[in-house]
Amino acid sequence: MLFTPKYSRAIPDYRRYCHHLDPTRFRGRKERYCSEDNLVPKENQNSFKQNLKGQRRCRVANYEIIAGSETVTTHKEFGFVYRLDVSKVFFNPRLSYERMRLASLVQPGEMVLIPFCGAGPFAIPLASKGAKVLAVEKNTEACRWMSENVRLNDVDDKILMVRADAFRLHYVLKSLFDRAVIPTPYGCDGILDVVYSLMKLGASVHFYTFKKDYQIEGLINEFERSGFRVNFYRKCGNIAPGVCRWVFDLIKSEDF
Ligand SMILES: C[S@@+](CC[C@H](N)C(=O)[O-])C[C@H]1O[C@@H](n2cnc3c(N)ncnc32)[C@H](O)[C@@H]1O
Repeated sequence: MLFTPKYSRAIPDYRRYCHHLDPTRFRGRKERYCSEDNLVPKENQNSFKQNLKGQRRCRVANYEIIAGSETVTTHKEFGFVYRLDVSKVFFNPRLSYERMRLASLVQPGEMVLIPFCGAGPFAIPLASKGAKVLAVEKNTEACRWMSENVRLNDVDDKILMVRADAFRLHYVLKSLFDRAVIPTPYGCDGILDVVYSLMKLGASVHFYTFKKDYQIEGLINEFERSGFRVNFYRKCGNIAPGVCRWVFDLIKSEDF
């Protein structure tokens, strides 16, 4: 749940908030929902202020609770439900459009690899479209919430969850995937080489990365030198002055 710019000005260094509420219920009512009255703690409603200065291992931010009393929350998105503890697991509600975009591309029966899966917001929508997903995550807490979310969203038979370092996958897996989704943590772009070796020729890779505008042309050339064709790319939001999260839809076009 995002607050409007109007409200954000009232809170220094605000970033994101999660609520025990369904954001879709508030379409067209954003201003009212974001008014100060709605921050008064209510039963089953918690608000968290995310302090991105406190980033730690596993990309979990420090939170200061500004209303409510606990950090376990339920996020609802396009009919899916995600339970997680925001103080222990990374979660970004801003990528909801991307999750639905990828779910609309996947075909039933596809083998999909998702390193850095977190609590499951990419894996679950794709599995619900019939993909067979291998989801990889190194944070034990995220794995625990992912297991619960898989159960809550009734996709137990479509997702295999592995707690592992994604950078070591090529030691144990073969190139059998039709698609990969890589919600890359900052500084981990090297994962693309590992994933490349695990994809079939012609497979799709959705690669998220943080870049400045002037870096994009060089990056596209680099993808093409590395055996990928760029099918589509777009900005998915600003994360720091001049830096955006981008997604690149790549096709593995060569097998080196
Ligand atoms: C940017 S978050 C993305 C989480 C989730 N996909 C989402 O969109 O909410 C990155 C996730 O990767 C995990 N992670 C970081 N390094 C990892 C590694 N080497 N192997 C596996 N998981 C890793 C973190 O614990 C975190 O949950």
